[in-house]
Amino acid sequence: MSHSKNDEPEPGFTRRDLVRGALVGAVAAGVGGKIAPAAQPAALGPDPVPIELTINGQTHRLSVEPRVLLASALRDRLGLTGTKVVCDRGACGACTVLIDGQAACSCLLLATEVQGRSITTVEGLAANRELSAIQKAFVEADALQCGFCTSGMIVSCKALLDSNPKPSREQIREGLAGNLCRCGTYPHVFEAVERAAGLKTATAAPREGGELFVHRLTPSAAGLVHDDRIDAALIDLSELEEA
Ligand code: FES
Ligand code: FES
Repeated sequence: MSHSKNDEPEPGFTRRDLVRGALVGAVAAGVGGKIAPAAQPAALGPDPVPIELTINGQTHRLSVEPRVLLASALRDRLGLTGTKVVCDRGACGACTVLIDGQAACSCLLLATEVQGRSITTVEGLAANRELSAIQKAFVEADALQCGFCTSGMIVSCKALLDSNPKPSREQIREGLAGNLCRCGTYPHVFEAVERAAGLKTATAAPREGGELFVHRLTPSAAGLVHDDRIDAALIDLSELEEA
């Protein structure tokens, strides 16, 4: 077969000729030598495997079966129960965490596949016992009822504000479209985002419900099983009340 100067096939050279030529070349290259097999990912399990997860800035070493979901590892192995599991199929957003700053459903990720990534849960949003702006705004706007969707909502709001610090109401709706609230607190959640963003559209005064919520959550609150993390969260809210 002859080619013109610029290596363009001459008229009459068909696509079939091109494929045939490529196949012949590939077979010839394999004669007399081994064709390197395609790289296969190392198989894991079914027995537990050691993994290392970076969560809220801390490294955790675990041994988990490869089938274990990130949501389960967080809740059942590490006690980070702020992350909730509701639908367990990626439909409600209750289990939302940040993976390298991006919101993701932890019920859809295997713990083994997020090694080497930076994972942030709702517990990691407060720093030095100080609630983050969006957490404070949720309290002030009374943006929860039963609270089961709240952790996922807050984490999604954080991701939204990190990527768009001044979102419009429409952008807030879109940003939270993956988070379902059975109690219907959406208007208060949207307001909380606007408060955290410092938008004029936010209502200035704390809602009455928000004040009640803070009052109710004092360290002497209602016979909770002792847990240092709960105490820390309650003290934070008391400080917020004094502010
Ligand atoms: S529990 Fe993960 S999306 Fe519903
Ligand atoms: S506050 Fe109850 S599900 Fe959202």
